[in-house]
Amino acid sequence: MSPVTLIIVGFAGIFFVIFCILVWLQPNCKSIPAGILTPDSKFMSLTMDKFLNEMERMKPIRFTNQHLRIATDNYTYLLGSGGFGAVYKGVFSDGTIVAVKVLHGNSDKIIEEQFMAEVGTVGNVHHFNLVRLYGFCFGRNMRALVYEYMGNGSLDKYLFDENRTIEFEKLHEIAIGTAKGLAYLHEECQQRIIHYDIKPGNILLDRNLNPKVADFGLAKVCNRKNTHITLTRGRGTPGYAAPELWMPNFPITHKCDVYSFGMLLFEILGRRRNLDIDHAESQEWFPIWVWKRFEAEEAKELIVACGIEDQNREIAERMVKVALLCVLYRQESRPIMSVVVKMLEGSIEIPKPLNPFQHMIDGTVPLPASQTNTDTSAGSVSSVMVTESSLQSAPPIVTKLEIESAST
Ligand SMILES: Nc1ncnc2c1ncn2[C@@H]1O[C@H](COP(=O)(O)OP(=O)(O)OP(=O)(O)O)[C@@H](O)[C@H]1O
Ligand SMILES: [Mg+2]
Repeated sequence: MSPVTLIIVGFAGIFFVIFCILVWLQPNCKSIPAGILTPDSKFMSLTMDKFLNEMERMKPIRFTNQHLRIATDNYTYLLGSGGFGAVYKGVFSDGTIVAVKVLHGNSDKIIEEQFMAEVGTVGNVHHFNLVRLYGFCFGRNMRALVYEYMGNGSLDKYLFDENRTIEFEKLHEIAIGTAKGLAYLHEECQQRIIHYDIKPGNILLDRNLNPKVADFGLAKVCNRKNTHITLTRGRGTPGYAAPELWMPNFPITHKCDVYSFGMLLFEILGRRRNLDIDHAESQEWFPIWVWKRFEAEEAKELIVACGIEDQNREIAERMVKVALLCVLYRQESRPIMSVVVKMLEGSIEIPKPLNPFQHMIDGTVPLPASQTNTDTSAGSVSSVMVTESSLQSAPPIVTKLEIESAST
């Protein structure tokens, strides 16, 4: 045997002995065949899988016409319809129940990339008080949005129901939840989302009557029927739309949602539509009637007329003040939604509102030029000029990676 071979064999022997000692010092390893994980690593792997699945599900999914036709059983179960199109109930093969909103035809100006960008933005917004957008379909003949299904439908069904199935305390919670959803859209999203169409029909209730704001971001995705403000201006529904939405070429901020939320609060207080001409006891517009009672310090009369029990008087008075503040004529005087939440919860003092309807007596008050870009209550604000062109040409901010295709 050559000296070189002797050295190699010697080293190999030494390594073998060291290896045996190491294995002997770690007896647990001997009982684990390759490929089988320790309880700890198994747990880590399951957690990671769950996490990745959750991540996947956060992305909006692209569905085909056929997926949706199967899920909705050929669009048999109509949940309702509105300015954007008809909404159908659907069920996917894994049992997930969805609401499929089939957008009506005149959204064809919107190109696929733009549509996907907007849907991508909305589909990546997650909050307990916002309806989840699971995905969308962009086919040659059909555009649709697929939402989480809300078992109790929309708030208007309960609010204007004569049986008063929901108690006032619950309505107060619904108002707070709605305000939280809006505060998230306005103040916490990476890119501020203005809803433009807050009203009871767009507040959906889950099985436990938790409120979730629906249809946010839709103003950019498609056009609506003429039940809504269109012209060259923004969106909204008469009765809820802020005055600035009706003024041509006027800058629009998130405060238009605060105004609509105020109108919603009046309806919650009165359990009646603000624009209810058939209402017997008052020919007046309900918000003005409330203001008059408030100004005359007739809170008791107001609360009795609204059928609110005396034990809820304090909450109701808080709601009255917040509603009046939210509908102030000037955008910059309206509170931001996170402050609205605190005022409704009673955790901060509510300033005494001024008359929000003074301009109706004086004639229209011109809004100050400073309003174009400043906002005293919200820090920095990006005003949005809501014209058709700005709605169509917002830069896509979502990469294709954030949208996933549904597998067949
Ligand atoms: N995610 C959902 N889950 C359950 N029902 C829904 C869902 N989305 C909508 N609906 C039902 O469909 C109806 C119509 O909704 P849609 O959004 O089309 O109209 P709208 O809210 O009355 O008006 P707008 O077009 O201004 O939003 C709602 O009133 C509600 O009852
Ligand atoms: Mg709606």
